[in-house]
Amino acid sequence: MYFPHYRPRRMRQTDSLRSMIRETHLHPHIFTYPLFVTHGEDVKNPVSSMPGVYQLSINNLIEEAREVASLGIRSVLIFGLPEHKDDVGSSAYDPEGIAQMAIRALKEAVPQLTVIADVCLCEYTSHGHCGVVRADGKVDNDLSLELLAKTALSFAEAGVDVVAPSDMMDGRIGAIRSALDQDGHQDVPIFSYSTKYASSFYGPFREAADCAPQFGDRKSYQMDPANSDEGVREAMIDIEEGADMVMVKPALPYLDLIYRLKHETRFPVAAYNVSGEYAMVKAAAERGWIDEQAVVMETLLSIRRAGADLIITYHAKDAARWLQERMAEPSRGRDR
Ligand code: PBG
Repeated sequence: MYFPHYRPRRMRQTDSLRSMIRETHLHPHIFTYPLFVTHGEDVKNPVSSMPGVYQLSINNLIEEAREVASLGIRSVLIFGLPEHKDDVGSSAYDPEGIAQMAIRALKEAVPQLTVIADVCLCEYTSHGHCGVVRADGKVDNDLSLELLAKTALSFAEAGVDVVAPSDMMDGRIGAIRSALDQDGHQDVPIFSYSTKYASSFYGPFREAADCAPQFGDRKSYQMDPANSDEGVREAMIDIEEGADMVMVKPALPYLDLIYRLKHETRFPVAAYNVSGEYAMVKAAAERGWIDEQAVVMETLLSIRRAGADLIITYHAKDAARWLQERMAEPSRGRDR
C-alpha cells in the first residue's frame, strides 16, 4: 500500500477514472425544495435575505411546483403564511387555512410531486413560538401536542403525502402518529425534525416565513448546539414513537450528527440545508468571492457523503439543473 507501488494519483488522472471510483453521487430525486405559500392573487414577494426564494400565492406556487417537477425533483416542503395569527395558532389547523388550500391545489395540479407539509405553530401564533405560551411565558408542552396533532390531521385530510413536525415538543411524534392512525391516515409517513438545534442559521427563514419569536428564544425546546449524544437520543425517541425518517438541522455545521444518525439509527436520514447556509453562499457568490456552482455542489455532496438520504435545500432547483448539464457534458480527457 505504500509509495512507490501504490500511487493514489493514478486513479485521479482523468475524469473517467475518477468517476469509476467515486463513492458519493447526487441526484435530483434526493432533493426536497421548500416553498412558502401566502394568500392573495399572483403574489411573488422576494425574500430579501434569500435571493431566488419567494413567498408565492397559490397560482404561482403551482407554476413553481411544475418547474420543480420538470427538473426531476420529487418532493416539496410547504410552509404556510396565514392571514390571521393568534395565541393558539388557529390558522394552522383551519381546514380552509393557507397550507391546506396549497396542499389540495398541489395534489390536483402536480399529483406526481410528493407534498410534505411542515407541522409547527410558529408561523401561525402571534407570539411566534412553536407551541402554546402559558401566562408565565413558558411554552406548554402537552397543550401544544394537541394542537400539533390537530394540524397534522388537517394536513392529512387535505391530502398531504407526508407530515414533517418541526416544533421540537416532547412526545409530538407519538401524538401525531396516534391522531393520524385514529382517523384512518395510517399510511401518511412522518418525517421528524428529530435533531433540530437552536441555531443562528435560521435567521433568513424567519423573514421568509414571518415567524421570529416576539420574545425570548427557542432554547427551551430546540437543542443545544454543543450536544451530540442528545441529538442521537432525540432521533431514537422519535423512531420509537413512530417516525419514518429522522432529520438533522442545520446540515453543514452538523455533519457529524448526520453521520451518527445514519450509523446509529439505521433509519432514513434527512438533512436540512437551512436558510442561513443558503444566504451565506448567495451573498459571497454575489460579491464574486466564491464560485457558486462549485461551492453548492461540494456542500451538497458533503451532506450526502456524511450519510443524508434526503437533502432539503433552497439550492435544489439550481443543483438539479447543474446535474442535468453535467450529464450532458462529454467527459473530458486527461487532466494534469
Ligand atoms: C419552524 C421552522 C423553522 C425552520 C424550519 N421550520 C424555523 C425555526 O425553527 O426557527 C428553519 C428553516 C430554515 O432556516 O431554512 N419551526
